Amino acid sequence: MMKLVAKTLYGLENVLAEELISLGASEVKAANRAVLFNGDKNLLYRVNYCSRTALSVLMPVGDYRIRSKDDLYKCGLKIEWDVFMEADDTFSIVPVVNSPHFAHTGYAALILKDSIADYFRNKSGRRPSVDTGDPTILINLHISNDQVTISIDSSVVPLFKRGYRQEQAVAPLNEVLAAGILLMSGWKASSSLTDPMCGSGTIPIEAGLIACNIPPGKFRKFFGFQRWKDFDEELFNKIKLEYDKLAGISTVKICGSDISELAVSQSRSNVSRAGLSDIVSIELSDFKDLKSADDHGYVFLNPPYGQRLHPDELDGLYSMIGTTLKHNFPGNTAWLITSNKESLKKVGLKPKEKHTLFNGALECTLLKYEMYTGTRKAEKP
Ligand SMILES: C[S@@+](CC[C@H](N)C(=O)[O-])C[C@H]1O[C@@H](n2cnc3c(N)ncnc32)[C@H](O)[C@@H]1O
Repeated sequence: MMKLVAKTLYGLENVLAEELISLGASEVKAANRAVLFNGDKNLLYRVNYCSRTALSVLMPVGDYRIRSKDDLYKCGLKIEWDVFMEADDTFSIVPVVNSPHFAHTGYAALILKDSIADYFRNKSGRRPSVDTGDPTILINLHISNDQVTISIDSSVVPLFKRGYRQEQAVAPLNEVLAAGILLMSGWKASSSLTDPMCGSGTIPIEAGLIACNIPPGKFRKFFGFQRWKDFDEELFNKIKLEYDKLAGISTVKICGSDISELAVSQSRSNVSRAGLSDIVSIELSDFKDLKSADDHGYVFLNPPYGQRLHPDELDGLYSMIGTTLKHNFPGNTAWLITSNKESLKKVGLKPKEKHTLFNGALECTLLKYEMYTGTRKAEKP
């Protein structure tokens, strides 16, 4: 059993914690943008391959309290680096430092680098070199005041890089965020799903993967742990086979649409790359012309945030969203995510739920609206 840390986006910690429990993790504890858990090598591989909301999985190899910057050098010498790599391998350090001991983040990384080099030189006379582009081992150095945690990143390429989205719209949603919203929303693959502003198709594709039980790691060519000295290829192949076998077909209707021809063509290519053309359809349409065919469907909306539109156009767009949802989607549940708090007021519907999430560095609000049928109309705030 090892102590492990799965990193995620702000606001998705609880969803990730549930995913980890369902994958078999123990001692699961949500933290800020991360979830701590216990697991073995099998679980480490499984989380990388199957988690929809983890950005990366770190394996801490040293936890220390330091009194000075020199202590960091000594800590680096205490770790048995030769368990993870050879003197001929390469490494890179990602520092996240907030400590009075270090005025510059890069300086802390430099000290750890020297310490790792000296660890190997003392043992074998040779030392690994730094390669920031394509290292054998990626080391995460986290220093908060006097608390140092040194971890090895088992993912290296962040897990939101699924591999299916090679064409993307102007402001695509992070795949982990799209999956997180779907898992938070309560949508089950038995209700139809519409994304009427689908851009490059991230939400419909993540929904298709969930509906067909396809592991999100299926399209990736590489995970960091595959380069570790103790990589168990047989175990990883067994895990892939086990989860790939669970994938099946779904009869749920998932529709994406967009007003932009370019977005529609990009979306279609991405859907096809994800192998979902049978269950995800993408059409060219203005949202105002759409009508729901399902009284219990789900609508997911990620409208433009405003960078390219005049404020009046944007207000008009958000007001159209409210009107269209109210009149054309009775009985549906709608989830809308945007970073534009001002335009959001123009939607004119009272949200049932409100959450703060981050799309990369951009703070966003996620709202849930319920469209009533008959006399119980959605109220104005
Ligand atoms: C923020 S992007 C969506 C990004 C998408 N979630 C993704 O991951 O790629 C907003 C999209 O809304 C589309 N859009 C703007 N006005 C629209 C309208 N009236 N009807 C349908 N789509 C519209 C834009 O063309 C753009 O692709």
